[in-house]
Amino acid sequence: MSLLIEKGTVVLENEVRQTDIFVQGERIAALGPKAADMATADSHCDVLDAEGLIILPGAIDGHTHLDMPFLDFASTDDFFTGTRAALLGGTTCIVDYAEQAETLAAGLQTWKKRAEGKAVADYGFHMTIKHLSSEVLDEMEAMVAAGVVSFKVFMAYPGRMMLEDEEIEQVMRRAAELGAVVNIHAEDGILIEDLIRRTKRAKATDPIDHALTRPSVGEARAVDRAIKLAKATGAHLVVVHISCAQAAALVAEAKADGLPVHGETCPHYLWLEQRKLKDQGLQGAVYICSPPLRDVTHMNALWQGLTRGEIEMVGTDHCPFNLAGHKDRGLRPDGSFDFTKVPGGLPGIETRLLLLYAGGVLTGRFDLVRLARITATGPARIFGLAPQKGAIREGADADLVVLDPDGLTSLDAEDLHMNVDHSPYEGMRVEGSIEFVLSRGELVVEARRFKGQPGRGKYIPRSNPDSMDG
Ligand code: URP
Ligand code: ZN
Ligand code: ZN
Repeated sequence: MSLLIEKGTVVLENEVRQTDIFVQGERIAALGPKAADMATADSHCDVLDAEGLIILPGAIDGHTHLDMPFLDFASTDDFFTGTRAALLGGTTCIVDYAEQAETLAAGLQTWKKRAEGKAVADYGFHMTIKHLSSEVLDEMEAMVAAGVVSFKVFMAYPGRMMLEDEEIEQVMRRAAELGAVVNIHAEDGILIEDLIRRTKRAKATDPIDHALTRPSVGEARAVDRAIKLAKATGAHLVVVHISCAQAAALVAEAKADGLPVHGETCPHYLWLEQRKLKDQGLQGAVYICSPPLRDVTHMNALWQGLTRGEIEMVGTDHCPFNLAGHKDRGLRPDGSFDFTKVPGGLPGIETRLLLLYAGGVLTGRFDLVRLARITATGPARIFGLAPQKGAIREGADADLVVLDPDGLTSLDAEDLHMNVDHSPYEGMRVEGSIEFVLSRGELVVEARRFKGQPGRGKYIPRSNPDSMDG
């Protein structure tokens, strides 16, 4: 199949230009006048008139949790519903978090089975290391060979997920040897456990108390330790889901010092204020996630970090749980609330691109090139998906998003496609709409409607990120 997308406002790596794109099979075959020539020579070529429309590289979501087991249930989007919602929101590739099982290989196998036959967007996996041993350190090499070139470790949740600093150091050394990346969940787990004990004793366990047990100072302290460990080991570090100004500043400083340290934030830390957690019961519980939402000073610092290129990507940390059956586990029979019983996480896989377009581009904070960098080029480069994905260039996968700047999109749950019973952005309308999406040359969203077949998404083995500076 071939397609000429003509006269669109095309967001390239360093500029925005009105030009044509010729798609042949799964790839971008040509840009500019050559695209029109190739289309003329191809008698079976379809044409999409994109005048007045913006063409962005398919967005890459480097942080999702689909079908993730938690207690006796799982996050509510599986690899079909989650990647369908991703495509409808302009995301053509995700990197989901697989978790260590008996071995790392067993964990990867389990996650691959969850995705196969279901995913409609392309996908890769990070591997979360929850318990360290010499066998795990040995196994990391096989993970890299299998295309899993990033490992997540936790500085929070002692007894469940947390690794000691000495263990994190070992993971980093091994990752550095293998050319892999370490993704860090940077919150001070010991401080948090202490604050949770105190707040329970004081019988203060409303949704807002969840946030108060996870102060920004604990996040900053953990980021500081992680950066020092990365410096000592030479590891490439990604500080994921940055929520506060101090953490963003530490990452910026490390980058300025020339360290291979990268930052990721999420739309909810940019758009949603901590005071939303002050609503009682389930209304507040919608917003429970870790790290927690912060106040407007932090939100502004994160927007600024994106504008300056200090925070290089925005992932969603999509981790949806229903109010009915999951978040309502925090409701006690007497009507009071216990945040310690509530699964953390927000849905967001579908809403990221338009939230960043509205909050970043339309406000004048940054331009379309920056939008493409933080949603596609950055994650592709840092997580080893480039040059196959992440930019509109000849030879790359034809993962393309056509955005109508005159469109309007409702962020109400009933208008979205994620498999979850609420939206953190209920009542919000954003300017812009995702009209068409191509995934490896296939039109999978047409006039805002999904058209793909379950299982069409491919596992993308990632390669060691070559050069991650800049
Ligand atoms: O609350 C959150 N963010 N849940 C997802 C797990 C994680 O730490 O990323
Ligand atoms: Zn995390
Ligand atoms: Zn996460």
